[in-house]
Amino acid sequence: MSSDNFQSVLTENRVFPPSDAFVAKARVNADQLSALRAEAAADFRAFWGKFAREELSWETPFQTVLDDSNAPNYRWFHDGTLNASYNCLDRHLATRGDKVAIRYEGEKGDTRNYTYRELHTEVCKLANALKGLGLVKGDRVVLYLPHSAEAVIAMQACARLGITHSVVFGGFSATALRDRIEDTGARVVITADGNQRGGNFIELKKGVDDALALGCPLVEKVVVAKRTTQTVPMAAGRDLWWHELTAAVPATCEPVFVDAEHPLFLLYTSGSTGKPKGIQHCTGGYLLGAMKSAQWVFDLKEDDLFWCTADVGWITGHSYVTYGPLANGATVMIYEGVPTIPDAGRFWKICQDHGVTIFYTAPTAIRALMKSGEEIPNKYDLSKLRLLGSVGEPINPEAWMWYHRVIGKEKLPIVDTWWQTETGSIMMSPIPGATATKPGSCTQPLPGLFADVVDELGDPVSGKTAGGYLVITKPWPSMLRTIWGDNERYKKAYFGQFPARPDGSLLYVAGDSTHRDEDGYYWILGRVDDVLNVSGHRLGTMEVESALVSHPRVAEAAVVGRPHEIKGEAVCAFVICKGARPTGDEAAALIKELREHVSKEIGPIAKPDDIRLADGLPKTRSGKIMRRLLRSIAKGEEITQDISTLENPAIVEQLAGKA
Ligand code: PRX
Repeated sequence: MSSDNFQSVLTENRVFPPSDAFVAKARVNADQLSALRAEAAADFRAFWGKFAREELSWETPFQTVLDDSNAPNYRWFHDGTLNASYNCLDRHLATRGDKVAIRYEGEKGDTRNYTYRELHTEVCKLANALKGLGLVKGDRVVLYLPHSAEAVIAMQACARLGITHSVVFGGFSATALRDRIEDTGARVVITADGNQRGGNFIELKKGVDDALALGCPLVEKVVVAKRTTQTVPMAAGRDLWWHELTAAVPATCEPVFVDAEHPLFLLYTSGSTGKPKGIQHCTGGYLLGAMKSAQWVFDLKEDDLFWCTADVGWITGHSYVTYGPLANGATVMIYEGVPTIPDAGRFWKICQDHGVTIFYTAPTAIRALMKSGEEIPNKYDLSKLRLLGSVGEPINPEAWMWYHRVIGKEKLPIVDTWWQTETGSIMMSPIPGATATKPGSCTQPLPGLFADVVDELGDPVSGKTAGGYLVITKPWPSMLRTIWGDNERYKKAYFGQFPARPDGSLLYVAGDSTHRDEDGYYWILGRVDDVLNVSGHRLGTMEVESALVSHPRVAEAAVVGRPHEIKGEAVCAFVICKGARPTGDEAAALIKELREHVSKEIGPIAKPDDIRLADGLPKTRSGKIMRRLLRSIAKGEEITQDISTLENPAIVEQLAGKA
């Protein structure tokens, strides 16, 4: 890792304490937060054990809080049994049966509400239909669905039967979908005939058809939700309509109680290698993490309307659209569309029309909406909002201040939440009624969670602005349990970098660099591995490189990120062609083709912003690509680095477009 990853460029020193008005009604104030932290520091097992008993409904109560005898394969509450869907739905029916669980709005403005009772019925019906297909506890089902109530219903129906779901984001290509289906070994895929997004018709069913044509021999059935008026081909004996399957089944379905460690879902995410990792989350600990963090961070109350704008295809959509809020009996908003249709006021119109109270989005969305000017949000009544959140990438202080001033009217707390697919739930964030915020800092770990900053050897880094690797020093309930089918990779990727501490605890390596200021606040600086963060989405540079190299004209490719005003990072690819390097129109045509190729292989989010064709890549004499140099070139910086160790120094000029 290069030292430039550790340097903080921020000199932000504004501090925003919570307002008295917010503190007066907050679930957690500063004293309560101190008490929680002290309790967790004294005995973090007892701390989590108490909350697990208080918050979750167990079929068989657990006896053991944490089993670390096989670390880092930790087990939480493992001798207890429960059901995630029961915890999200059934237990609310007596008191919240008529409360709205989901408020849905489509891009065209169509709306639909689901009460807890209605959601329960829909979930039970689909669960019965899945049972009818012969699916049982332990099976895997892949969901390739729009960001919709159907996605939540399908996740809950799987959870009800102890089926492990794996949601694949609808923006992934057929090839990426095929890879994920095959890795999970799913026998059933649930999809939709299509959906309306960004003014376009998204052909989800075709994505599944194409994926199955490419492989997936284990898939027996495809369940298709009818959501449009388009006609889609249905393969006889394989494809089944959701509405037909659920037409004549009972409206109740007994939940299947599973061990707390039973895999609730797999979610694929990018790492440093070309192959995405199936992050495995469990039932009990995950649900507890999602639930408690939603209470602490979002100050969730009975009459809130909570809107997390993330798609269900990402971890944020799992934890803060589906499991966290529903386990708390809250009402969630789901908007199936883009923020710019019909114009950049759509988010604010939804906040106004539905009375959203808590709004949680990504910095990339904030930056994009900020660009369209403040007159747009100023047209809407945002007075119901009481809390704002941010997730997915570092939020630059400028965007933070805009969010604070224009959307929060300088009154609302902002929670900048740091976490990852692997952590399952929010790890670091302000507690809105307790923590003074600083623009750009995710502040401190939540109660019961323990972080540190370490150097290359794993030793704690001290000093005001010193930076290093972000590590988590104690296991936590919602942590990933393994990488599906590759436990060795799990151990190596997350716990293999540093030696155990003297007390035996293992360090979880997040893959981010950070520094901690004099108040103990963390400032996330970015990834230290070969993972990009494009519009809050993780992309492995190797994944994009593999996609490029799979094109017949490409001999070699190197992918790096460069800062991008809206997306956070843009994807830049340096490509060496097979045969002569094309120039002029031929080069332009090839670049276009390569961009489409990556889109087809992975999905439009991975489409490189820049592609440069060259005769070679800057390599050290040992054959290693100098990515740091490529990053500088991609940024258009003058090359001041030492290139004397390069095997082919002349190539630098060419890559920089000077030769
Ligand atoms: O680099 C960090 C960044 O996003 C990575 C995790 O990506 P993913 O697993 O896709 O999950 C995103 C949503 C939880 C982290 O390693 N990241 C996430 N939140 C923040 C962040 N960086 C800075 N500040 C954040 N609030």
